[in-house]
Amino acid sequence: MFQPAITGSGVFTPQEIITNDELVAAFNAYADRYNAAHADAIAAGEVEAMGPSSAEFITNASGIEQRYVMDKSGVLDPDRMYPRLRQRSDDEPGIMAEIALSACGDALAAAGRSGSEVDLVICAASNHERPYPAIAVEIQQLLSAGGFAFDMNVACSSATFGIQAAADMVRAGSVRCALVVSPEITSGHLEWRDRDCHFIFGDVCTAVVIERADDARGAHFLVHSTRCATQFSNNIRNNNGFLRRTRPDGVTDRRDMQFMQNGRKVFKEVLPMVSAHIGAHLEAQGWTADDLKRLWLHQANKTMNDFIGRKVLGRVPEAGEQPNILQDYANTSSAGSIIAFAKHSDDLAPGDKGVICSFGAGYSVGSVLVERA
Ligand SMILES: CC(C)(COP(=O)(O)OP(=O)(O)OC[C@H]1O[C@@H](n2cnc3c(N)ncnc32)[C@H](O)[C@@H]1OP(=O)(O)O)[C@@H](O)C(=O)NCCC(=O)NCCS
Repeated sequence: MFQPAITGSGVFTPQEIITNDELVAAFNAYADRYNAAHADAIAAGEVEAMGPSSAEFITNASGIEQRYVMDKSGVLDPDRMYPRLRQRSDDEPGIMAEIALSACGDALAAAGRSGSEVDLVICAASNHERPYPAIAVEIQQLLSAGGFAFDMNVACSSATFGIQAAADMVRAGSVRCALVVSPEITSGHLEWRDRDCHFIFGDVCTAVVIERADDARGAHFLVHSTRCATQFSNNIRNNNGFLRRTRPDGVTDRRDMQFMQNGRKVFKEVLPMVSAHIGAHLEAQGWTADDLKRLWLHQANKTMNDFIGRKVLGRVPEAGEQPNILQDYANTSSAGSIIAFAKHSDDLAPGDKGVICSFGAGYSVGSVLVERA
């Protein structure tokens, strides 16, 4: 058995930003047009009028102030309300592979490794632009990596579940140097025409290198233990998929073809699940909350993270103990906790311990206990 370690991390951040004010202006223009177009039906009570969105509501309810996206113009065009991405030929890298290369390049540079030294690529993300060939195999080829590669999807928990899979293989010796990469183009599946959720997501890509601690070429984080859990729920759901055209109604622009959630229920049900999960994981490892120098939590909602931090630590987290990045990035699905880790871990000293934890659709929760070495 070998001790696995995270030896490098990287984040690709798209160039375009949408602020809450810009988002709300576009949504409200869309809602005004919708209401005008359906004025008679609304007056007759046959159709419900769309209410306006509000930047103040968004900041207060979520803590999100802006989001990065791959294409801003399509999302903010009231005649479109979703990204406009260039059609690519099958002979050029897909957009997920392209942003993955950037994040993987940074993670490999931090680890002091080249792509050819990698023998496992897991593309762990909540949406893949095609079912096959796997995005991970495309990334493997673009990196000149060896070994094998595969895609996996556990929604917002994809990255931590991917870390568990990679760390287990490194521990067992079946792979020596793994990349877990999470290209999250969430703007593609967000329903930007629904005020209940149009503010939630942003685009990003993260990557981590996992290899034997003995092989590490610089500062690294020992992966002491991982724990994954799932419990079925329909409260976050997307019904899109290859069976879509077989359905009797044949409608492709149905609401459930995009992200749907019952945010209140998610909030209530996932909070206790995550707090208990982290507590049990720490206990099984023989760690206490006092051992934790940092919590890198999934980034969906600031109030939710504040609550989990308080519950796990038994006190209000001190500034910097539980870094939030969602004010800048919004919810980036599985990448959120990894962005927080990549941007807020360099200052830790050898021996400092922390937990990376993600949670979301499924429901799913994944936690990784790490120690700086
Ligand atoms: C999504 C979330 C931020 C919404 O916050 P909330 O406090 O639950 O707000 P609600 O959805 O209950 O909406 C409250 C009111 O504001 C309204 N509202 C919703 N969106 C609005 C917007 N953009 N602007 C203005 N008002 C809005 C609602 O219609 C509702 O009005 P009503 O009381 O008249 O019905 C919150 O539920 C959340 O973060 N949940 C967890 C989500 C999560 O982690 N998901 C994981 C996804 S991977």
